[in-house]
Amino acid sequence: MEKVVALAKRRGFIYPGSEIYGGLRGFWDYGPLGTELKNNIKREWWKGMVYERNNVVGVDAAIIMNPKVWEVSGHTEAFTDPLVECKVCHKRFRADHEGELKKHEKKHGESIEWTEPKTFNLLTEVYLGTTKPKQKAYLRGEITQGVFVNFKNILDSTNMKIPFGIAQIGKAFRNEITPGNFTYRSREFEQMELEYFIEPDEKEAEKLFNYWKKERMDWYVTYGMRKENLRFREHGEDERAHYARFAEDIEYKAPFGWSEFEGIHHRGDWDLGRHKLIYKDGETNKEYTPWVIETSGGVDRTTLFFLINAYHREKDRIILKLHPKLAPYKAAVFPLLANKPELVKKAKEIHETLIKKYPVAWDARGNIGKRYFSQDEIGTPWCMTVDFETLKDDMVTVRDRDTKKQERIAIDKLASFLENELE
Ligand code: GAP
Repeated sequence: MEKVVALAKRRGFIYPGSEIYGGLRGFWDYGPLGTELKNNIKREWWKGMVYERNNVVGVDAAIIMNPKVWEVSGHTEAFTDPLVECKVCHKRFRADHEGELKKHEKKHGESIEWTEPKTFNLLTEVYLGTTKPKQKAYLRGEITQGVFVNFKNILDSTNMKIPFGIAQIGKAFRNEITPGNFTYRSREFEQMELEYFIEPDEKEAEKLFNYWKKERMDWYVTYGMRKENLRFREHGEDERAHYARFAEDIEYKAPFGWSEFEGIHHRGDWDLGRHKLIYKDGETNKEYTPWVIETSGGVDRTTLFFLINAYHREKDRIILKLHPKLAPYKAAVFPLLANKPELVKKAKEIHETLIKKYPVAWDARGNIGKRYFSQDEIGTPWCMTVDFETLKDDMVTVRDRDTKKQERIAIDKLASFLENELE
């Protein structure tokens, strides 16, 4: 974990938020490469969940909503975690995180004493306007409610018919008691969610719950997460969120233990029922409150686990074996020698052509070995080198990050090579 955190900082994936002022617990900034990785994850998710399906549409709702939304959805009352405080040093902990409590108990030995657990609401309050009293509102604790409040708008402005889905990606905020494990538990994070509206029927719900479970697990495997590091875990009755009838997590075997990064939830009619929203079947005229099967993934946790999953060491070198579609740069172009203008000119021409279609790095520092080393660390799948032969045959050496195999490819075939590989 420490190695991944160090690499993330050193190479510009993830930095502590507002670091020059000592940071702020639970807030992180994404650097140039982290931004690309995160955007690639979101783009591929959107492609798979929205573009490749004819019954899913997207929304991008406001982060701050009328506070009534959170009262009606039950979040002001039930979106809580149990909190205990150490009476010795006044540090606060989640009462349900046994491992962290035990670790802390060891620190104080016999003298440890805990307060009684208290419930602590996770919604982050904000105050709007200039005149007092200012209007209290909340930063959304889940992006989901932005979908439900637009349910009628979507029905009125599209031709969606049940079963159909509404997808959204966006920021959520939780006033976590103990942010930690790098970006894993943050106070500001992004979610990528699908709310799938179905007829209120147990059999249908079970079928679609299992369908989405499989779809989501397969998605992570397709993009390179190793199967042995993934598992489902069913929520016990006592740990289910207030809106869920049934829930299963997808967990990753992280260095800090099996950890949830996506939840599949059967929300039943909880949300639409509470917001008093109904659906009218255009053919039968039957009116009902649809049920919802939800897939709720965390973009930051997914990014972290893709990084951990991709991290490989070979002797003294790090290789980030990211899926090419997720890799920040798809390729890098080098002149074999930086002090030979004819090589630099040719390499620059190639680079300028390729960057019109793909993010492609340029590197003319040091020797070729160091450049491979540097690109491997950030997961660039292919390095393209212009050498003296190139000046004669218009071909470059393309080196594969994972196999280290090198092949000569004609300059005018480089774009189609990348296109085929990234298909
Ligand atoms: N709409 C349902 C919902 O929000 P959740 O299980 O509370 O469900 C879904 O959250 C996902 O959001 C989690 O699986 C996780 O990936 C991400 N997430 C939740 N809290 C987080 C936090 N404090 N930091 C980072 N990601 C978080």
